[in-house]
Amino acid sequence: DTVAITLTVNGQERRLDVAPWTSLLDLLREELDLTGTKKGCDHGQCGACTVIVDGQRVNSCLTLAVVKDGSRVTTVEGLAEGGLHPVQAAFVEHDAFQCGYCTPGQIMSAVALIEEGRARTREEIREYMSGNICRCGAYTNIVDAIEDVMK
Ligand code: FES
Repeated sequence: DTVAITLTVNGQERRLDVAPWTSLLDLLREELDLTGTKKGCDHGQCGACTVIVDGQRVNSCLTLAVVKDGSRVTTVEGLAEGGLHPVQAAFVEHDAFQCGYCTPGQIMSAVALIEEGRARTREEIREYMSGNICRCGAYTNIVDAIEDVMK
């Protein structure tokens, strides 16, 4: 059995029939072809699947799509408007990635951090970003990029 839900994804309203156990991550990737959002662990431990739902960042692998009926979802595909989002541009400028797999999640967390305006110091940025794992160890450049945007 499926459940009918409506999500506004990157500004576009989508009516979807989803199985109750479908994660938001699988819905984005497999139904909507928004594969910018990555599946790393599928257990809420790596942050590769981070998206913004109604202004809050969430691990989309841990979020059931049906629970977010009526919500606004922003994925990495929805950030650039006529040019890179300032966070994306800063990641390029600061070389804040190596393999790039964690990058969409890192960027979505960084966008949430800047919108929330809660982290001011490098330590606070590191703390906020601690749920986003980078196996290449690009952390220093990631924090540099975020600091740059926050200036
Ligand atoms: Fe969701 Fe790792 S895939 S936290």
